[in-house]
Amino acid sequence: MNNQPVLILGIETSCDETAAAVVKDGKEILSNLVSSQVELHARYGGVVPEIASRHHLSMINPLIDEAMQEAGVSFNDLQAIAVAHGPGLVGALLVGVATAKALAYARRLPLIAVNHLEAHLYANHLDAEEISYPAVNLIVSGGHTELLLIETPGRTISLGHTRDDAAGEAFDKVARVLDLGYPGGPLIDKLAKEGDPEAIDFPRAWLGEEGRFDFSFSGLKTAVINHLHRARQRNQEVNMPDLVASFQEALVDVLVEKTIQAACAYQASSVLMSGGVAANSHLRKHMAARLNSALPAITLRYPPPELCTDNAAMIAAAAYPRYRQKEFAGLDLNAYPGLGLG
Ligand code: KG4
Ligand code: ZN
Repeated sequence: MNNQPVLILGIETSCDETAAAVVKDGKEILSNLVSSQVELHARYGGVVPEIASRHHLSMINPLIDEAMQEAGVSFNDLQAIAVAHGPGLVGALLVGVATAKALAYARRLPLIAVNHLEAHLYANHLDAEEISYPAVNLIVSGGHTELLLIETPGRTISLGHTRDDAAGEAFDKVARVLDLGYPGGPLIDKLAKEGDPEAIDFPRAWLGEEGRFDFSFSGLKTAVINHLHRARQRNQEVNMPDLVASFQEALVDVLVEKTIQAACAYQASSVLMSGGVAANSHLRKHMAARLNSALPAITLRYPPPELCTDNAAMIAAAAYPRYRQKEFAGLDLNAYPGLGLG
């Protein structure tokens, strides 16, 4: 392959964000557009799959046009079309997959299938310096909580994952019980700044199993709900900022300590964070402080907030090594709602 720049159009429709982006050489963002459906789903307190699919359908074509225009490129300038084909909501994924297949066929461009979770890892490659390996990567999103060891790019080993709720799901469910709104993560992040994180000692599930780094957040969620019910039964005033700050502290504490233990155990050179919850200000601060005191030689990296949550630039970035390896998908590509890593 020659040294001509590689321009990839990325398409993402796995959940409630319709996104299109053009990325050069897997690193440089030329455009990155996201149409969020948050307001459509907020009144239901969570994502309604049918509404998500319909909205993707009406947004995807204009969004791709806009992403191409903003990048200043035409289809003739592209080398490939990349799309997230799982995990996610099947109807939502299918909109992106069908669009990408039609474009690849009509424009005679290679089609690249990208795992949405793997793409979250690649968010750390965008507009950023080279990563030093081995790296421990914590993916914390609405659907997933995974701790991974990346020995070298493409060689990824799962160290642990959640056994019940994902970290973002715990934020969203607690926010729903407290009537704070949807999605709960950013709202709790903000409200917690006014509270005392040590006001209530919520349980931390350490699951001390040798060699595993699994998580569990459903006990913590139940403890928050029980605390609220008890206070209401006794007609006691609930201090919301203290409650959410203490919940966030317990959840972040476990994420940070397990990541640090894994970084120690595998002598990592970097710790990376990605996924929507990696935008959490307390997690960022706490992880930086603990790493600084426990393992000061390790570099901590996380994407800017807009690249932590779902976007298509990360899809195009993850497709770049596949393009180099000529790992192309056929036009019979399907959507895989339960697609895992590895
Ligand atoms: O990665 P993402 O956009 O979608 C999935 O692939 O799931 O993550 C969305 C999740 C939601 O649960 C949302 O509440 C959470 O990320 N989130 C946050 C913050 N921003 C988004 N959680 C905590 N603090 C935040 N600042
Ligand atoms: Zn995601």
